[in-house]
Amino acid sequence: MARSECGFVGGCRVRAAFLVLIVFSVAAVAWGEAPGNAPERLRLMPLPGHVESGAGYLVLDTYFNAGFSGSHDARLDAALDRMLARLDRHCGEVLRAQAASGDGSPRVLTIRAAGPGNAVQSVDEDESYRLKVTPAMAELTAATDLGAMHGMETFLQLVSTENGTCRLPSVTIDDAPRFRWRGLMIDVSRHFEPVDVIERTLDGMAVAKLNVFHWHLSDDQGFRAESKKFPRLTEAASEGRFYTQEQMREVVAYARARGIRVVPEFDMPGHTSSLLLAYPEYESGEAVRELPAVFGIHEAVLDPSNENTYKFIDAFVGEMSAIFPDAYFHIGGDETDGKEWLANPRIAAFMQKQGFKTSAELQAYFNRRLLPILARHGKKMMGWDEILNPALPKDIVIQSWRGEASLAAGAAQGYVGILSAPYYLDAQKTSEAMFLADPLPADTKLTPDQQRLILGGEVCMWGEQINAQTIDSRNWPRTMAIAERFWSPQSDRDVADMYRRLRMASLELEDVGLTHISGPQKIRRSIWGAEDTAPLDVLAAVSEPVSFGERYRGQHTDALTTLGRSVDAVVPDPPSRQEIARLVDATLAPGHAGESQAAAMELRRRFMQWQAAAPVIEAMSRRSPMLSDIGQRAQQLGASGAVGLDALSYLETHSAPAPEWKAREMAILADADQPSALVRFVFLPELRKLVEAAAANLSQP
Ligand code: ACM
Repeated sequence: MARSECGFVGGCRVRAAFLVLIVFSVAAVAWGEAPGNAPERLRLMPLPGHVESGAGYLVLDTYFNAGFSGSHDARLDAALDRMLARLDRHCGEVLRAQAASGDGSPRVLTIRAAGPGNAVQSVDEDESYRLKVTPAMAELTAATDLGAMHGMETFLQLVSTENGTCRLPSVTIDDAPRFRWRGLMIDVSRHFEPVDVIERTLDGMAVAKLNVFHWHLSDDQGFRAESKKFPRLTEAASEGRFYTQEQMREVVAYARARGIRVVPEFDMPGHTSSLLLAYPEYESGEAVRELPAVFGIHEAVLDPSNENTYKFIDAFVGEMSAIFPDAYFHIGGDETDGKEWLANPRIAAFMQKQGFKTSAELQAYFNRRLLPILARHGKKMMGWDEILNPALPKDIVIQSWRGEASLAAGAAQGYVGILSAPYYLDAQKTSEAMFLADPLPADTKLTPDQQRLILGGEVCMWGEQINAQTIDSRNWPRTMAIAERFWSPQSDRDVADMYRRLRMASLELEDVGLTHISGPQKIRRSIWGAEDTAPLDVLAAVSEPVSFGERYRGQHTDALTTLGRSVDAVVPDPPSRQEIARLVDATLAPGHAGESQAAAMELRRRFMQWQAAAPVIEAMSRRSPMLSDIGQRAQQLGASGAVGLDALSYLETHSAPAPEWKAREMAILADADQPSALVRFVFLPELRKLVEAAAANLSQP
């Protein structure tokens, strides 16, 4: 998109004032410019709704101090403390400056929140804020704590270093989310995630301005929430890996402190092997004898014809409602296998008496029975696609996981919904693909009234192929790109700029405690068995995990599968994919000889690195059981490096290769494209481009 376009919320305004203020579209990049300095590109993510850049900088010096104007609660005090600690880590001496500022000294950053917001955070809360920075001071105003906390994140992202100081460009930002529901779902049943993992995830969510943590607490492989009324849920069905009620309360409080709602999910009537192992009296068929190690859809299902099932759910929901104050309670409802219902003569007779012909009708009956139970405990129902049924009221929330079409179908029938289908992180799609998937695309066929029913979306991280060591590198930084989709204006679709900002946001996420960069490095050290893992790093930098389905088929992943192999030591959509694409484009670009040569030189350096790393990794793969699968990948990396070097030579010497050269090189790349070691190379399309260009001898002098 052209930088001069102004298609953002609020339109394009240009003001002439004492300072020349320049207004840019948010779909383009906001720039700040100081006299005598090169233009500075802001690194805000998610992009704000409206940015006005001014002139000059606010320098954070020994007089910097931040505080409130008007009332402020403990939540905001703690948020400011966290913000100052992060600033101190980057700039130094911030905490000293803060401590030195007396009550009477003028504030450099003044924060003003009109009120704290609701005691229980609601879907409809005002999260907007305004942040004004001038060379003399900064002012953050918001209607609630939520907006003030979002503004603090933006303040931190404005800070850059220059001439030995930290500074913020003069800017006025008016910002508010596009969608009210911006969530991240974590499945802790298939693999348990300890409280510290959940809390650092919440810290990352706050940076991303996400506001719903959807906690998938039960599934076939484990029941993870302690119940005092039904203690066998965790005694019999968690293998000791569960959250105590105190821990769940702690997580709810931790989330609230960061402006994040917690929606618990207890999946039913299917995905209940763990529940039914603990309480077989609610089972529809054969008793569950152990927690299933195998993932997938299991037959165990609650008995909707048994009144005691509802008594159990009533008591359980009541107990959980005292822990989870949110207005919504997620009942799952996905992938219910009705086989046990149809095979049980008592349930079949019940269905006949009710006039139900299909198990879907029986599930709708079950859901209808849950409605008054949830209402009694002050909850509204939320569930996956499968709960959509005209028999249910319109204030339930449908979470669409089976495709955008199902979200639209729900809205067309008047149902409130959120989108998750394009945001399944375990599909290992690129940030780009997920960033461009929009809950309400520009060409939506929904009427304005129907569009208002789309509350937003949720990123989903299922737990089959992750554990506490690997979850961060699967979640982040890609979740940040999706968070921008949920927050920023629809017109924000500049992929290259998104990646530029994502790389910086990634460091910020690691700074708040996530381990998506350090975690895979640690795994590489473990499986390489040395501190210096350089050869393996070279391979990892250009590899990414295959999709959930490919890994499942290739590994038959189950609850006992060893995680922490090479596939877990590489990250989805690594930076090298973009870097190599840029270098190849620059190498082949006509008319910029200097840039082309520099790009070609950098490519050559990388290809030589691949060649050098390959034999070392191959040798190591013959020694180490954890690396035994990547010998072939290493060999292919070296061969691909040779292809790249060959192509560059032809391009640089403007000589045409022999006629059979292209076919031979393409065959090498095709071999590297074959499934192996559960990872795939990210450079193959670009290398093919180089080979094509060399074969056609398209390079420019
Ligand atoms: C789901 O992915 N079964 C909701």
